[in-house]
Amino acid sequence: MEVEVVSHAVHSRIWSKQSEADGDRRLRQSYHGVLQSHLSQLPTRILDVGCSVGMSTFALQELLPQAEVTGLDLSPYFLAIAHDRQRQLPKEASEQRIQWVHAPAESTGLADGSFDLVSMCLICHELPQEATRAILREINRVLVSGGTLSIMDMNPQSPIYAQMPPYILTLLKSTEPYLDDYFSLDLAAELAAAGFTMPEITAHTPRHRTVVAKKL
Ligand SMILES: C[S@@+](CC[C@H](N)C(=O)[O-])C[C@H]1O[C@@H](n2cnc3c(N)ncnc32)[C@H](O)[C@@H]1O
Repeated sequence: MEVEVVSHAVHSRIWSKQSEADGDRRLRQSYHGVLQSHLSQLPTRILDVGCSVGMSTFALQELLPQAEVTGLDLSPYFLAIAHDRQRQLPKEASEQRIQWVHAPAESTGLADGSFDLVSMCLICHELPQEATRAILREINRVLVSGGTLSIMDMNPQSPIYAQMPPYILTLLKSTEPYLDDYFSLDLAAELAAAGFTMPEITAHTPRHRTVVAKKL
């Protein structure tokens, strides 16, 4: 029940103090700007991996209303909230076709080639490296040939992290235990090993980046 509040709090200081209330919305908007600039045609089947309570899923559905959107998460609790949030939407929006899938992203049970866009929004920094590798392979399997994978997350190259006092970084790691795994992962090499093109990487907030690659 607290996920949206936490997300707004965590993203409140991305830009200036003046736009605190708007941080989460601006983050997702800037992500979608980058994502759209990489889409040569509108996707019709979208998978949101690590959808949590649906914030990224509802935002994708709003951005691309023609698409069938599926949200997938490991947590049945978050998915229960996502269902509830969908019921609370105005009638027209709640009738949109979001499907919710409870599964590990490493083994989704979804059909081969069943999506033309997969989005991973703020999940990779939560993962051990072996999980990221397995998830990239699984996403490659469920994408159509030429389909797009888009990964938005913390930018390990951001000077904000390089300049962060060590005790703050340690505090951050107390809630983000796989941060070292994430920061030291060579994502371009892992994408190549999983069957993707060389990614295009865009830093679009002071501390976030979006990595876009196509299935070979
Ligand atoms: C920080 S949340 C991201 C939420 C959402 N995408 C957003 O933009 O607000 C990360 C999510 O990834 C999910 N997750 C972590 N590991 C997973 C895995 N192996 N398979 C599926 N979901 C996973 C967690 O349950 C959590 O809901």
